[in-house]
Amino acid sequence: MCEKNKKRISVIGCGTIGQHILGFLHGQMNRYAEIVGVCDLEREKIVHWQQRSGITVPIVGLKTAIAESDMIVEAASQSAAERLLRELIPSRKELILLSTGALIRHEEILESMKSGSLKIYVPSGAVCGIDGIGALSQGTLTSVKLITAKPPAGLKGIPYLRERYPDIDKAREERIVFEGNVADAIANFPKNINVAATLLCAAAAAHGAKAKNLVKVCMKVNPHLTQNMHRIEIEGKEANITVEIRNVPSAANPKTSALTALSVQYLLHKIFSGLKTGS
Ligand SMILES: NC(=O)c1ccc[n+]([C@@H]2O[C@H](COP(=O)([O-])OP(=O)(O)OC[C@H]3O[C@@H](n4cnc5c(N)ncnc54)[C@H](O)[C@@H]3O)[C@@H](O)[C@H]2O)c1
Repeated sequence: MCEKNKKRISVIGCGTIGQHILGFLHGQMNRYAEIVGVCDLEREKIVHWQQRSGITVPIVGLKTAIAESDMIVEAASQSAAERLLRELIPSRKELILLSTGALIRHEEILESMKSGSLKIYVPSGAVCGIDGIGALSQGTLTSVKLITAKPPAGLKGIPYLRERYPDIDKAREERIVFEGNVADAIANFPKNINVAATLLCAAAAAHGAKAKNLVKVCMKVNPHLTQNMHRIEIEGKEANITVEIRNVPSAANPKTSALTALSVQYLLHKIFSGLKTGS
């Protein structure tokens, strides 16, 4: 592929996921992708990563990233995702979104997307079974329940837990700390339960806003766990599906499962490859 046919890609957020994706784009996708730049609120994070990895990528601001790229990978935060969505919706660009809670938190964003031509990819991230939910959404999906259990380290410093369960760090047994809908889960755990928003997006493929009533979330803290666990119970007329995932936390960030960056890597692979497996 000649240089001018390469997709021009920027990465927003040079943390656990962003660094992985930059390494993958640089090492394995350079036939297809040109890295326009990387953007992070903490410039020194990029500098340290460049020193450690030996990869040099231009450091850019959000404006340049947006203006000069065909595709943007958001691996930063919900506020970054919200800003990107607002600025990119009228464009014909592509956005891979990790902080998926942003899609749920602001209904007006979802509404304005109907008229926009932005193409948004929501990777499976830390969970599996999105294909089953999406397929059933085209038939008769009746309910999706996400039960997530995390070790206390995966939920450290969350105001919701500090206020309601100040002693949760000392819990000896598993405790349910939240039960409710996706919007409330995202509001209370903005950095920890993006997967709930991802499931809702899959359910919304055919059900639109009504999907809000189909997806329920239960969050548990379990001091005996070393991994994040997700159980997804999916019910529909055409199939009942149960998925269980035991995720290994990333070494750099216990809030983020190692599977997440790999799922973005697979998505990029799928975008560029002729063989597209999985719906
Ligand atoms: N969809 C999923 O399944 C899933 C799974 C894990 C994490 N996530 C989400 O993905 C995002 C990235 O996760 P991570 O583990 O790489 O986090 P991280 O904390 O390791 O890295 C995030 C980086 O983004 C930077 N950043 C934050 N806000 C920014 C902004 N407005 N502009 C530019 N840079 C900004 C931070 O300085 C940091 O370097 C988080 O929002 C996280 O909640 C989603």
